[in-house]
Amino acid sequence: MLPQYCVSLASVQKAQATIDGLVHRTPVLTNSTLDRRAERRVFLKCELFQKTGSFKIRGALNAVSGLAERGQEGLQARAAVTHSSGNHGQALALAARMKGIPSYVVVPRTAPACKKAAMLEYGAHLLECEPTDESRAETASRAVIETQGILVHPNQDPLVIAGQGTIGLEILEQVPDVQAVVVPVGGGGLISGIAVAVKTQHPHVKIYAAEPENADDCYQSKRNGRLTPNASPPVTLADAVKTSIGTNTWPIIRDLVDDVFTVSEEEIQRATRLIWERAKLVIEPTAGLGVAAVLSRRFRDLPVSLRNVCVVLCGGNVDLDSLGWLRAPSDAS
Ligand SMILES: Cc1ncc(COP(=O)(O)O)c(C=O)c1O
Repeated sequence: MLPQYCVSLASVQKAQATIDGLVHRTPVLTNSTLDRRAERRVFLKCELFQKTGSFKIRGALNAVSGLAERGQEGLQARAAVTHSSGNHGQALALAARMKGIPSYVVVPRTAPACKKAAMLEYGAHLLECEPTDESRAETASRAVIETQGILVHPNQDPLVIAGQGTIGLEILEQVPDVQAVVVPVGGGGLISGIAVAVKTQHPHVKIYAAEPENADDCYQSKRNGRLTPNASPPVTLADAVKTSIGTNTWPIIRDLVDDVFTVSEEEIQRATRLIWERAKLVIEPTAGLGVAAVLSRRFRDLPVSLRNVCVVLCGGNVDLDSLGWLRAPSDAS
């Protein structure tokens, strides 16, 4: 029995039933070059093939499906609201559309055009704010009141965390002899859900976090034994994990995550290239984090008896305009 957290194995199993048939059961792939370089068997859980191109639809859909139960005083919530210019914004927009309710996503006016376009395509109403935390929070609170909606936090909402945990259930079925799962960490919703799902059933399976050295709040928090957010906005290629872990995910991470592997920007870049080049999988750099972790010296120094490691390839939403040769031609050309 695990202590009480904001999610339990039962809530992850309930999420699995809720989203069953509405999201993909993503494949697990292997690659012999990667195995050789990592000096163990590496299983790649391919969430880049998930709807909206990242695992985020799992949590978003579970949360939106629960909106009816969450409206105040028995009233059904009329909209889903969030603040995220990234993968959660897209996922919430699609989840809301699947459930037939409107979604409102607060985005900083400086957010890349491609991200705004993707959210609009999934049906979101975009609410622009200034690129500050205060403006973001204030715009989101106003939207909640004006739309009679519910705020779905990208990584601290218990229904979101439970939804992400369904990846853990699938890994246990798809890789029955898995000995460790490596998971990129931003706010910690992904790793917390997976940790609860896996550790409740198989306490001996290791859960390892992967983080950029430049955004190492999870590592610092574990080292200090208390929640230690990033002191300043991080600069990293792994743009989906710039956010810090929070009050709901910290207790789970504190107790259930066995170790945190931090990697340099160069390691993230090399690992992402390797997966594109050898495995032919278009992952975003944040997904390269987990691969970089298993290729790191410190990970390779783990006992050889740790044979079977599963890395969560969390997403594949690459800004193609960032690849010079693939940039969209201008209208003039
Ligand atoms: C592709 C990808 N990977 C990992 C993460 C980190 O997830 P979490 O914030 O739940 O730790 C995110 C979060 O946005 C993401 O979009």
